Amino acid sequence: MSFKFPFFKNKQNIKDDHFASDNIPNHVAIIMDGNGRWAKKRGLPRIAGHKEGMDVVKKIVRAASKCNVKILTLYAFSTENWKRPKSEVEYLMKLPKEFLHIYLPEMMENNVRIETIGDFDALPDHTRKAVQYAKDQTKGNDGLLLNFALNYGSRFEIMRAVKQLMADIDSSELSMDTVDENTFSEYLYTKGLSDPDLLIRTSGEQRLSNFLLWQVAYSEFWFTDVLWPDFSEEIFKTALQDYQQRKRRYGGI
Ligand code: FPP
Repeated sequence: MSFKFPFFKNKQNIKDDHFASDNIPNHVAIIMDGNGRWAKKRGLPRIAGHKEGMDVVKKIVRAASKCNVKILTLYAFSTENWKRPKSEVEYLMKLPKEFLHIYLPEMMENNVRIETIGDFDALPDHTRKAVQYAKDQTKGNDGLLLNFALNYGSRFEIMRAVKQLMADIDSSELSMDTVDENTFSEYLYTKGLSDPDLLIRTSGEQRLSNFLLWQVAYSEFWFTDVLWPDFSEEIFKTALQDYQQRKRRYGGI
């Protein structure tokens, strides 16, 4: 199966000159919640909310690039989301391909690199192939890292890490005496990435829902009642500006 995406123009890093450039979070993670409620309020099927949410992803990728955020991790599908009705799951599994079909050229132009965290091999073939294509196409880009959490669950990630780490100790590739927090982090999907500085959740819910449990130990949290399809560049910037005012002490004084 091959993918035909429109011709890629030259890469460029977009900049926003009207945004204070100090203390920008390096890594922003977002729990994009509220698509279903957005659709229900309009008498539309839930998938209409997901479709609208997809377009907001593009706006926020652009905003994050402009504001000089380096990593944007988006919770697109959790290991628990398989429990949803089959038709909704099927739709959600088609979204990455649709998103990439429309927006991959713009991602290339804006020097965005696409990656994923989560159990990638367990995704349907068509989803995996489209996303893998985008990863391959964008791997040389060094602007924003757009990191989709796809079939991601933090407890699964931690259990997987524990098992791999124990296997490496068993085979003497690793010594128990040298294992510390940094070693453990290397066994997570987020290996090599800095922890999120700012975690945003939309739709008024204030919980983590099995997202990056290890990695958000010292992240700043920012919640909004706005439903994800109504989220905007302005609201994203408000979250960043709020973050810029915060004093992070990491347990010190
Ligand atoms: C949660 O809202 C949202 C999801 C489970 C899916 C998120 C997906 C998108 C925003 C689109 C993803 C786009 C790409 C490019 C992969 P909900 O359905 O739980 O909303 P509700 O709580 O109001 O029911």
